[in-house]
Amino acid sequence: MTLGRHWWPSKGGITLRRRPGLVARPALVGRRLASDAHCRIVFPAVAAAPGTSVITPSQQLIELGHLAVMLALPVALLQALAPLLARALRRPELATIAVRGAWLQLALAALGWAALTQAFVTDNFSVWYVAQNSNSALPLVYKISNLHFGPEVGVGKPKSDVAVVVAWLNEIQKISADLSLLHGAKQAASEIFNADARRIGEYVTPGTISAVITSPPYPNEKDYTRTTRLESVLLGFISSKEELRSLKKGFVRSNTRGVYKEDDDDRWVAHHPEVNRIADAIEARRKELGKTSGFERMYARVAKLYFGGMARHLAELRPLLKPGAQLAYVVGDQASYLRVMIRTGELLADIAQSLGYRLKRIDLFRTRLATASREQLREEVVVLEWPGKEK
Ligand SMILES: C[S@@+](CC[C@H](N)C(=O)[O-])C[C@H]1O[C@@H](n2cnc3c(N)ncnc32)[C@H](O)[C@@H]1O
Repeated sequence: MTLGRHWWPSKGGITLRRRPGLVARPALVGRRLASDAHCRIVFPAVAAAPGTSVITPSQQLIELGHLAVMLALPVALLQALAPLLARALRRPELATIAVRGAWLQLALAALGWAALTQAFVTDNFSVWYVAQNSNSALPLVYKISNLHFGPEVGVGKPKSDVAVVVAWLNEIQKISADLSLLHGAKQAASEIFNADARRIGEYVTPGTISAVITSPPYPNEKDYTRTTRLESVLLGFISSKEELRSLKKGFVRSNTRGVYKEDDDDRWVAHHPEVNRIADAIEARRKELGKTSGFERMYARVAKLYFGGMARHLAELRPLLKPGAQLAYVVGDQASYLRVMIRTGELLADIAQSLGYRLKRIDLFRTRLATASREQLREEVVVLEWPGKEK
C-alpha cells in the first residue's frame, strides 16, 4: 500500500516529489493545458501562508493511514517473536503480547484501509495509488472494492517505462488547439443520440434531415466495442457485461463476435446478387481450406448481415430526409474473410440506388495494399442524394 506520496507532475513527465506547505489538488487532469510545446498538467496548487500549513482533513487522514500502515510492520514482527520468546525464556505471560499485537494490528490495518478508501471515494489523486488505479468517472462500487470491469478493462500494474500520460496529453492538446479555432464562431445547436442508426426513425422527425456525413462500420471482422472499450468505460457508457452486450446488439454486424442467433438483417439483401455471390464465395473458400471453427463458419453470414444492416439503415432514413438531401458514407474495401474481396463502396452504392437514392459519385481518398492478397483496397466516400420520393 502506498499512502501519503503526492503525485507531482513535472514538465514532460511525472515525478514523485514532496513539497512542504503545498497541497496538490488535481481536478482529474488539471484545469488548464500549457500552451507551449511541452505537455504539462497545471494543478491549482494552494500556497500556504508563511508558517502555516494547508493540509486538509482528507490529507491528514491519509498521512495518519500511512503512519498506521508503517507501524503495522513492527507490530507484526512483535506478534511473531513474542510466542517464541515466551517459550525460549519460559515466561508464558510474554505470549499475551501476541494477542494484544493482533488487536493492534487489526486497528492499524483498518485505519490504513479507511484512509485509502476515503482517498478513492473523494477522488484524491494526490495519492499515487489512487491516481494509478482510479478515475472520477468510476462507479463507487469499483472505487471502494478491488472489483474491476471485465472483460478487457482492468487495472494492471502501472508501467513505469511508458509515458502514457504525456502521449495522451499531447493528443488532448491537439484537440484543444482544434477547438480553439472555433472560438467566437457561432455555435449550432446540437443533440446527440446514443442509439442504433438502423432505428433512427425513433429519434428524428420526418422530413428534417438535409445532410448525412458518416463513417459507418466496414465488414472487416473488427469489434468496434473493443477499440473504444476504454473510453466507453471511463465515460460511463458501459459498466457491466450486460451493457456491453446491449451496445453490441445495437451495432451493424461487422464481425463474428457481434452476431446473435436472432439476427435477421440479412433478409434486406436476400435477393441482392452480388452480396449472395460474395457470401457463397466465402463459404466455398472456407470449405476448400478446411476451416471449421465456429467463427469461420459464420463469415458468410456476417457479410450478409453487414450489407443487410446498412440497407436497413438507408431504408429507415428515407422518410426523415428532405428532398435533395446530400449523404456521404466513408467506407473501405475489405478482404478479411478468407481473402474474398468485398468492394464495400460499390456494393453500398448499388444497395442505396435500389432503395431510391441517386448515386452522385464515389470519391477515392486513399488505397491500402492488402498484405495477404497484394490487391489494392480502396477507401472511398460514397456520395448520395435523396431525390424525395420512396421507391
Ligand atoms: C468506422 S468506425 C467510425 C469511427 C468514427 N469515425 C470515429 O472516429 O470514432 C464505425 C463506428 O460505427 C459505430 N456503429 C456501429 N454500428 C452502429 C449503429 N447501428 N448505429 C450507430 N453507430 C454504429 C461503431 O461504434 C463504430 O465506432
